[in-house]
Amino acid sequence: MGPLSDTTVLITGASRGIGAATARLLAAEGAHVLVNYRDKAKRADAVVAAIEAAGGTAAAVRADITDEADLDRMFAGIDKLQVLVLNASGGLERDVDPGYALRLNRDAQVALASKALPLMADGGRIVYVTSHQAHFADSDPGELEVYAPVARSKRAGEDALRAMLPEFAARGVDFVTVSGDMIEGTITATLLERAQPGVIEHRRAAAGGLLTVEEFAAHVADAATAAIESGEVVLAGGPGAWARD
Ligand SMILES: NC(=O)c1ccc[n+]([C@@H]2O[C@H](COP(=O)([O-])OP(=O)(O)OC[C@H]3O[C@@H](n4cnc5c(N)ncnc54)[C@H](OP(=O)(O)O)[C@@H]3O)[C@@H](O)[C@H]2O)c1
Repeated sequence: MGPLSDTTVLITGASRGIGAATARLLAAEGAHVLVNYRDKAKRADAVVAAIEAAGGTAAAVRADITDEADLDRMFAGIDKLQVLVLNASGGLERDVDPGYALRLNRDAQVALASKALPLMADGGRIVYVTSHQAHFADSDPGELEVYAPVARSKRAGEDALRAMLPEFAARGVDFVTVSGDMIEGTITATLLERAQPGVIEHRRAAAGGLLTVEEFAAHVADAATAAIESGEVVLAGGPGAWARD
């Protein structure tokens, strides 16, 4: 039994990486975790199996979050939601059109929050997962040129969700952002290192060490229940701020 006993939590993009690690942590707190995935059913099933093996409960739920009909199908199967973790992200994939990053990182996030809200009770929480480069995109765009359009789209998503704060408050739902520096061992970090060799070592040195997936996921999971005021931003990793040098 834990703080999320008898509640349901939906985590987008939980078939791998930070979303999958967050799913395991929140299931350990007693939540029934809905592991959203786009098309990697086997990976999502493996996350569910690991949660069940540890004594928790979970289910895999398929939806491409940029597809309105998929979202409607997914939410039709949910009665009540305590926490929505907006983790799924992208835009660096090959062969995506120039508008895709904004559709995924802004429009889909707003659609998810809007469709989840009627299912959330007073005391519910929406957690938006982002990166320092995205969160600080306006004041300090950082050193990763290849990631800049994705960063701007994620910042646009954060701003659009923040504009919904009055709507969230009217429902008694909190909104918390968790932002992290580059995370060791992720696919994104590998792609960025390939595009800009040396960038990970530079971030490691600038931040005084980078968080692992498990460590960052612990911040995200904590933000789902911790006493944090709605609208707050949790800065995870490094010196607690986006420091380039
Ligand atoms: N990686 C880092 O260094 C880092 C640093 C700071 C913050 N973050 C943030 O942490 C979060 C997770 O990052 P990550 O590195 O763990 O990501 P990741 O490994 O790239 O995984 C992204 C997840 O999102 C899913 N996804 C992508 N597009 C989707 C769509 N259209 N519909 C549904 N699901 C979709 C993917 O599913 P598929 O497997 O089907 O593609 C995957 O499960 C992101 O918000 C990211 O900005 C990451």
